[in-house]
Amino acid sequence: MKVVTTLEDLRHARAALPGPVGLVPTMGYLHEGHVSLARRARAECASVAASIFVNPTQFGPSEDLASYPRDLPRDLALLEAVGVDLVWTPPPEVVYPAGFQTWVTVNEVTQHLEGAQRPTHFRGVTTVVAKLFNAFRPDRAYFGQKDAQQVVVIKQMARDLNFAVAIVVCPTVREHDGLAMSSRNAYLDPAQRAAAPVLFHALSAAATAYAAGERDAEILRELMAGIIDAEALARRQYVSCADPETLQELYGPIQRALLSMAVYIGKTRLIDNLVLGDM
Ligand code: PAF
Repeated sequence: MKVVTTLEDLRHARAALPGPVGLVPTMGYLHEGHVSLARRARAECASVAASIFVNPTQFGPSEDLASYPRDLPRDLALLEAVGVDLVWTPPPEVVYPAGFQTWVTVNEVTQHLEGAQRPTHFRGVTTVVAKLFNAFRPDRAYFGQKDAQQVVVIKQMARDLNFAVAIVVCPTVREHDGLAMSSRNAYLDPAQRAAAPVLFHALSAAATAYAAGERDAEILRELMAGIIDAEALARRQYVSCADPETLQELYGPIQRALLSMAVYIGKTRLIDNLVLGDM
């Protein structure tokens, strides 16, 4: 496995990779969710590349950039074990050199859900992912359904800017009790960790109600909100029942929907989602 930090070394190493090339973009502190993306890429592509970069521009001023967990040696060992061929671990000044002033923004699907709570987040994501696509020129890029809105936004960007890359969405990987894997789970103390599956419980209760015939978006939202609010350590930021493509909130009877939520457990902000109906 080749590990490079400069853009020149990345381009050189990328040029030597046989195609198709699969890319797994990450911010490091890898867990089984990331590993599942790399395994899928390994199964589908002749070469697998990954990036490890804690992207400062997708964090808001009061968010956790400084404390975001990092463990590069462990991350590299995990990627090597899966058979990844090339890893880029650039320092911030390689991605954002002095004088940097160009941004990629997606206008509409960024307005709702996470974008409404984190107004500068998706501009940072799309800008860095566009730079990763330019640097790696992947044939396929792998993202987790855990970040449902990110997937919608990146697909839109790739379509609008003619990136010749297939966006592959992989299922959310969960702990035994349903908690979606996330690097931020490392922030939870034991009591908070015990409370954190409440997000999955709320989503599952709404999915069960839907399976039993409930189709009213507002009732599904209220059901999820009630379960979150009954957990003393949880503070609900939003619960949503939205159109899976436009991400606009739904009202009245639904067929397909993206159920999603952001919930604080202590100071840790967790997100999770489930899709109702056929994908
Ligand atoms: O999903 C993530 O880890 C990040 O948002 C990504 C796609 C690597 C961009 O920094």
